[in-house]
Amino acid sequence: MRKSILFCLLVLVPASVWASGGNHARLDSVNIDLGDKASLRRGAHTFINYCLSCHSAKHMRYNRIARDLDIGDDIMKKNLMFTTDKVGSLMKATMPVEDATEWFGVAPPDLTLATRYRKPEWIYTYLRSFYRDNKSPSGWNNIVFENVSMPHVLYEWQGHQRIVYKDKKAMVHKKNKDGKTTMVEGTIKVFDHFEIARPGTMNKEEFNAAMRDLTNFMVYLGDPARLVRYRIGAGVMVFLFIFLFVAYLLKKNFWRDIDH
Ligand code: HEC
Repeated sequence: MRKSILFCLLVLVPASVWASGGNHARLDSVNIDLGDKASLRRGAHTFINYCLSCHSAKHMRYNRIARDLDIGDDIMKKNLMFTTDKVGSLMKATMPVEDATEWFGVAPPDLTLATRYRKPEWIYTYLRSFYRDNKSPSGWNNIVFENVSMPHVLYEWQGHQRIVYKDKKAMVHKKNKDGKTTMVEGTIKVFDHFEIARPGTMNKEEFNAAMRDLTNFMVYLGDPARLVRYRIGAGVMVFLFIFLFVAYLLKKNFWRDIDH
Protein backbone atom coordinates (compact mmCIF):
# COMPACT_ATOMS: atom_id res chain seq x y z
CA MET A 1 0.00 0.00 0.00
CA ARG A 2 2.73 2.38 1.03
CA LYS A 3 4.62 1.49 -2.11
CA SER A 4 1.68 2.29 -4.35
CA ILE A 5 1.19 5.68 -2.66
CA LEU A 6 4.87 6.42 -3.25
CA PHE A 7 4.48 5.34 -6.87
CA CYS A 8 1.51 7.70 -7.30
CA LEU A 9 3.50 10.56 -5.82
CA LEU A 10 6.52 9.89 -8.00
CA VAL A 11 4.63 9.45 -11.25
CA LEU A 12 1.44 11.47 -11.01
CA VAL A 13 2.64 14.58 -9.22
CA PRO A 14 5.39 15.51 -11.73
CA ALA A 15 3.00 14.64 -14.57
CA SER A 16 0.31 16.95 -13.26
CA VAL A 17 2.78 19.75 -12.54
CA TRP A 18 4.09 19.40 -16.08
CA ALA A 19 0.58 19.42 -17.49
CA SER A 20 -0.48 22.50 -15.56
CA GLY A 21 2.70 24.33 -16.60
CA GLY A 22 1.60 23.99 -20.22
CA ASN A 23 -0.93 26.09 -21.99
CA HIS A 24 -4.32 25.63 -23.44
CA ALA A 25 -3.38 26.03 -27.08
CA ARG A 26 -3.14 22.96 -29.25
CA LEU A 27 0.43 22.32 -30.38
CA ASP A 28 1.07 21.53 -34.04
CA SER A 29 3.36 18.67 -34.96
CA VAL A 30 6.59 19.50 -36.76
CA ASN A 31 8.77 17.35 -38.97
CA ILE A 32 12.18 17.35 -37.26
CA ASP A 33 14.91 15.85 -39.46
CA LEU A 34 18.51 16.52 -38.47
CA GLY A 35 19.65 14.66 -41.58
CA ASP A 36 18.19 17.50 -43.69
CA LYS A 37 21.26 19.76 -43.76
CA ALA A 38 19.73 22.24 -46.23
CA SER A 39 16.87 22.82 -43.77
CA LEU A 40 19.34 23.23 -40.88
CA ARG A 41 21.36 25.76 -42.91
CA ARG A 42 18.23 27.80 -43.71
CA GLY A 43 17.24 27.64 -40.03
CA ALA A 44 20.72 28.80 -38.97
CA HIS A 45 20.46 31.75 -41.34
CA THR A 46 17.10 32.84 -39.88
CA PHE A 47 18.26 32.27 -36.30
CA ILE A 48 21.44 34.31 -36.68
CA ASN A 49 19.76 37.12 -38.59
CA TYR A 50 16.53 37.48 -36.58
CA CYS A 51 17.02 35.97 -33.11
CA LEU A 52 20.61 36.58 -32.10
CA SER A 53 20.01 40.32 -31.76
CA CYS A 54 18.22 39.69 -28.46
CA HIS A 55 18.86 36.03 -27.55
CA SER A 56 22.19 34.30 -27.13
CA ALA A 57 23.04 30.67 -27.85
CA LYS A 58 26.06 30.82 -25.62
CA HIS A 59 26.89 27.13 -25.54
CA MET A 60 27.42 27.00 -29.30
CA ARG A 61 30.38 28.15 -31.37
CA TYR A 62 30.11 29.46 -34.94
CA ASN A 63 32.76 27.11 -36.30
CA ARG A 64 30.96 24.07 -34.85
CA ILE A 65 27.85 25.05 -36.85
CA ALA A 66 30.01 25.66 -39.93
CA ARG A 67 31.57 22.18 -39.56
CA ASP A 68 28.38 20.29 -38.69
CA LEU A 69 26.25 21.91 -41.41
CA ASP A 70 28.93 21.95 -44.14
CA ILE A 71 29.14 25.76 -44.29
CA GLY A 72 32.59 27.07 -45.27
CA ASP A 73 34.31 29.26 -42.63
CA ASP A 74 34.57 32.13 -45.13
CA ILE A 75 30.83 32.02 -45.96
CA MET A 76 30.08 31.81 -42.24
CA LYS A 77 32.26 34.86 -41.59
CA LYS A 78 30.87 36.92 -44.47
CA ASN A 79 27.15 36.13 -44.24
CA LEU A 80 26.39 34.86 -40.78
CA MET A 81 28.61 36.49 -38.22
CA PHE A 82 27.63 39.89 -36.90
CA THR A 83 28.59 39.88 -33.23
CA THR A 84 32.21 38.78 -33.57
CA ASP A 85 34.91 38.23 -36.15
CA LYS A 86 36.33 35.01 -34.71
CA VAL A 87 34.79 31.78 -36.04
CA GLY A 88 35.67 30.04 -32.77
CA SER A 89 33.53 32.46 -30.71
CA LEU A 90 30.43 31.50 -28.75
CA MET A 91 27.13 32.86 -30.07
CA LYS A 92 26.39 35.92 -27.96
CA ALA A 93 23.45 38.28 -28.33
CA THR A 94 24.05 41.62 -30.03
CA MET A 95 22.03 43.49 -27.41
CA PRO A 96 23.47 43.82 -23.89
CA VAL A 97 21.31 41.92 -21.36
CA GLU A 98 20.78 45.10 -19.26
CA ASP A 99 19.32 47.01 -22.23
CA ALA A 100 17.09 44.07 -23.21
CA THR A 101 15.82 43.73 -19.64
CA GLU A 102 15.05 47.44 -19.50
CA TRP A 103 13.19 47.39 -22.82
CA PHE A 104 11.25 44.17 -22.45
CA GLY A 105 10.95 43.98 -18.66
CA VAL A 106 12.53 40.52 -18.81
CA ALA A 107 15.83 39.28 -20.20
CA PRO A 108 15.43 37.25 -23.42
CA PRO A 109 16.50 33.74 -22.32
CA ASP A 110 19.44 31.90 -23.84
CA LEU A 111 18.06 29.67 -26.60
CA THR A 112 20.70 26.91 -26.76
CA LEU A 113 18.53 24.48 -24.83
CA ALA A 114 15.08 25.91 -25.62
CA THR A 115 13.94 22.78 -27.47
CA ARG A 116 15.03 20.65 -24.51
CA TYR A 117 12.97 22.39 -21.83
CA ARG A 118 10.17 23.24 -24.29
CA LYS A 119 9.13 20.66 -26.84
CA PRO A 120 9.95 21.31 -30.56
CA GLU A 121 6.16 21.35 -31.17
CA TRP A 122 5.86 24.16 -28.61
CA ILE A 123 8.56 26.27 -30.31
CA TYR A 124 7.08 25.64 -33.78
CA THR A 125 3.56 26.59 -32.68
CA TYR A 126 4.81 29.57 -30.63
CA LEU A 127 6.69 31.06 -33.59
CA ARG A 128 3.50 30.92 -35.72
CA SER A 129 1.06 32.11 -33.05
CA PHE A 130 1.72 35.84 -32.68
CA TYR A 131 -1.31 38.07 -33.21
CA ARG A 132 -2.14 41.76 -33.03
CA ASP A 133 -3.24 42.87 -29.57
CA ASN A 134 -3.61 46.58 -28.90
CA LYS A 135 -3.75 45.97 -25.16
CA SER A 136 -0.18 44.63 -25.01
CA PRO A 137 2.78 47.07 -24.76
CA SER A 138 4.47 45.71 -27.91
CA GLY A 139 1.19 45.53 -29.87
CA TRP A 140 1.61 41.74 -30.12
CA ASN A 141 0.45 38.79 -28.08
CA ASN A 142 0.85 35.06 -28.44
CA ILE A 143 -1.71 32.35 -27.98
CA VAL A 144 0.88 29.81 -26.77
CA PHE A 145 2.64 32.23 -24.39
CA GLU A 146 0.07 34.69 -23.09
CA ASN A 147 1.27 38.29 -22.57
CA VAL A 148 4.71 37.43 -23.86
CA SER A 149 7.10 40.38 -23.90
CA MET A 150 8.79 39.26 -27.12
CA PRO A 151 7.53 41.25 -30.12
CA HIS A 152 6.65 39.41 -33.35
CA VAL A 153 10.05 39.78 -35.01
CA LEU A 154 9.04 37.95 -38.20
CA TYR A 155 5.83 39.88 -38.92
CA GLU A 156 7.21 41.09 -42.24
CA TRP A 157 7.31 37.48 -43.38
CA GLN A 158 4.07 36.25 -41.82
CA GLY A 159 1.99 39.42 -41.92
CA HIS A 160 -0.45 40.45 -39.18
CA GLN A 161 -2.63 37.71 -37.72
CA ARG A 162 -6.00 38.36 -36.09
CA ILE A 163 -7.81 35.89 -33.85
CA VAL A 164 -11.22 34.60 -34.89
CA TYR A 165 -13.17 33.45 -31.83
CA LYS A 166 -16.01 30.96 -31.54
CA ASP A 167 -18.68 30.57 -28.87
CA LYS A 168 -18.38 27.71 -26.42
CA LYS A 169 -20.94 26.61 -23.84
CA ALA A 170 -19.58 26.93 -20.31
CA MET A 171 -20.62 27.75 -16.75
CA VAL A 172 -20.28 31.50 -16.20
CA HIS A 173 -20.68 33.81 -13.20
CA LYS A 174 -23.94 35.76 -13.02
CA LYS A 175 -24.67 38.55 -10.56
CA ASN A 176 -28.12 38.27 -8.98
CA LYS A 177 -30.27 41.20 -7.87
CA ASP A 178 -29.19 40.67 -4.26
CA GLY A 179 -25.53 41.17 -5.25
CA LYS A 180 -24.58 37.50 -4.91
CA THR A 181 -23.03 35.64 -7.84
CA THR A 182 -24.14 32.24 -9.02
CA MET A 183 -22.91 29.95 -11.76
CA VAL A 184 -25.24 29.62 -14.75
CA GLU A 185 -24.94 28.05 -18.16
CA GLY A 186 -23.74 30.56 -20.74
CA THR A 187 -21.27 31.03 -23.58
CA ILE A 188 -17.68 32.17 -23.60
CA LYS A 189 -15.48 33.15 -26.53
CA VAL A 190 -12.60 30.80 -27.25
CA PHE A 191 -9.88 30.75 -29.90
CA ASP A 192 -11.00 29.20 -33.18
CA HIS A 193 -8.40 30.11 -35.79
CA PHE A 194 -6.20 32.92 -37.10
CA GLU A 195 -6.88 35.01 -40.15
CA ILE A 196 -4.37 37.20 -41.92
CA ALA A 197 -5.38 40.83 -41.43
CA ARG A 198 -2.42 42.19 -43.38
CA PRO A 199 -0.39 39.84 -45.61
CA GLY A 200 3.38 39.50 -45.27
CA THR A 201 5.96 38.63 -47.87
CA MET A 202 5.39 34.87 -47.42
CA ASN A 203 2.22 32.85 -47.79
CA LYS A 204 1.13 30.42 -45.07
CA GLU A 205 2.96 27.38 -46.51
CA GLU A 206 6.20 29.32 -47.01
CA PHE A 207 6.09 30.72 -43.48
CA ASN A 208 5.34 27.29 -41.99
CA ALA A 209 8.29 25.84 -43.92
CA ALA A 210 10.59 28.62 -42.68
CA MET A 211 9.49 28.04 -39.07
CA ARG A 212 9.99 24.28 -39.50
CA ASP A 213 13.58 24.98 -40.64
CA LEU A 214 14.13 27.33 -37.70
CA THR A 215 12.74 24.78 -35.19
CA ASN A 216 14.82 22.04 -36.83
CA PHE A 217 17.93 24.19 -36.33
CA MET A 218 16.99 24.89 -32.71
CA VAL A 219 16.66 21.14 -32.04
CA TYR A 220 20.16 20.70 -33.47
CA LEU A 221 21.35 23.59 -31.25
CA GLY A 222 20.08 21.80 -28.14
CA ASP A 223 21.83 18.53 -28.98
CA PRO A 224 24.52 18.94 -31.67
CA ALA A 225 26.06 15.58 -30.73
CA ARG A 226 22.96 13.96 -32.20
CA LEU A 227 24.39 14.53 -35.69
CA VAL A 228 27.56 12.66 -34.66
CA ARG A 229 25.44 9.86 -33.16
CA TYR A 230 23.48 9.56 -36.42
CA ARG A 231 26.74 9.28 -38.38
CA ILE A 232 28.13 6.62 -36.03
CA GLY A 233 24.76 4.86 -35.98
CA ALA A 234 24.71 4.61 -39.78
CA GLY A 235 28.28 3.20 -39.72
CA VAL A 236 27.28 0.62 -37.11
CA MET A 237 24.30 -0.49 -39.22
CA VAL A 238 26.53 -0.95 -42.31
CA PHE A 239 29.02 -2.92 -40.19
CA LEU A 240 26.28 -5.13 -38.78
CA PHE A 241 24.95 -5.96 -42.24
CA ILE A 242 28.42 -6.90 -43.50
CA PHE A 243 29.00 -8.90 -40.32
CA LEU A 244 25.69 -10.69 -40.78
CA PHE A 245 26.75 -11.76 -44.25
CA VAL A 246 30.16 -12.97 -43.02
CA ALA A 247 28.52 -14.82 -40.11
CA TYR A 248 26.11 -16.49 -42.52
CA LEU A 249 29.00 -17.69 -44.75
CA LEU A 250 30.88 -18.95 -41.67
CA LYS A 251 27.82 -20.77 -40.39
CA LYS A 252 27.35 -22.43 -43.77
CA ASN A 253 30.99 -23.48 -43.80
CA PHE A 254 30.99 -24.86 -40.23
CA TRP A 255 27.80 -26.83 -40.65
CA ARG A 256 28.74 -28.32 -44.01
CA ASP A 257 30.49 -31.35 -42.41
CA ILE A 258 27.76 -31.87 -39.82
CA ASP A 259 24.89 -31.68 -42.34
CA HIS A 260 26.37 -34.41 -44.49
C1 HEC B 1 13.53 42.13 -29.85
C2 HEC B 1 14.12 41.11 -29.03
C3 HEC B 1 13.83 39.68 -29.39
C4 HEC B 1 14.08 39.05 -30.60
C5 HEC B 1 14.70 39.66 -31.85
C6 HEC B 1 13.66 37.67 -30.44
N1 HEC B 1 13.18 37.48 -29.18
FE1 HEC B 1 12.54 35.70 -28.42
N2 HEC B 1 12.14 36.60 -26.64
C7 HEC B 1 12.38 37.93 -26.33
C8 HEC B 1 11.98 38.17 -24.97
C9 HEC B 1 12.08 39.52 -24.24
C10 HEC B 1 11.51 36.95 -24.45
C11 HEC B 1 10.98 36.67 -23.03
C12 HEC B 1 9.49 36.69 -23.11
C13 HEC B 1 8.80 36.65 -21.76
O1 HEC B 1 9.30 35.97 -20.86
O2 HEC B 1 7.75 37.29 -21.65
C14 HEC B 1 11.60 35.97 -25.53
C15 HEC B 1 11.20 34.65 -25.44
C16 HEC B 1 11.40 33.69 -26.40
C17 HEC B 1 11.09 32.29 -26.28
C18 HEC B 1 10.43 31.64 -25.08
C19 HEC B 1 11.51 31.16 -24.20
C20 HEC B 1 10.95 30.52 -22.97
O3 HEC B 1 10.97 29.30 -22.94
O4 HEC B 1 10.47 31.22 -22.09
C21 HEC B 1 11.45 31.67 -27.43
C22 HEC B 1 11.34 30.19 -27.78
C23 HEC B 1 11.99 32.69 -28.29
N3 HEC B 1 11.96 33.91 -27.66
C24 HEC B 1 12.44 32.44 -29.57
C25 HEC B 1 12.89 33.43 -30.43
C26 HEC B 1 13.29 33.17 -31.79
C27 HEC B 1 13.32 31.80 -32.45
C28 HEC B 1 13.64 34.36 -32.33
C29 HEC B 1 14.08 34.63 -33.75
C30 HEC B 1 13.08 34.38 -34.76
C31 HEC B 1 13.48 35.37 -31.28
N4 HEC B 1 13.02 34.77 -30.15
C32 HEC B 1 13.76 36.73 -31.45
C33 HEC B 1 12.90 38.87 -27.18
C34 HEC B 1 13.27 38.66 -28.49
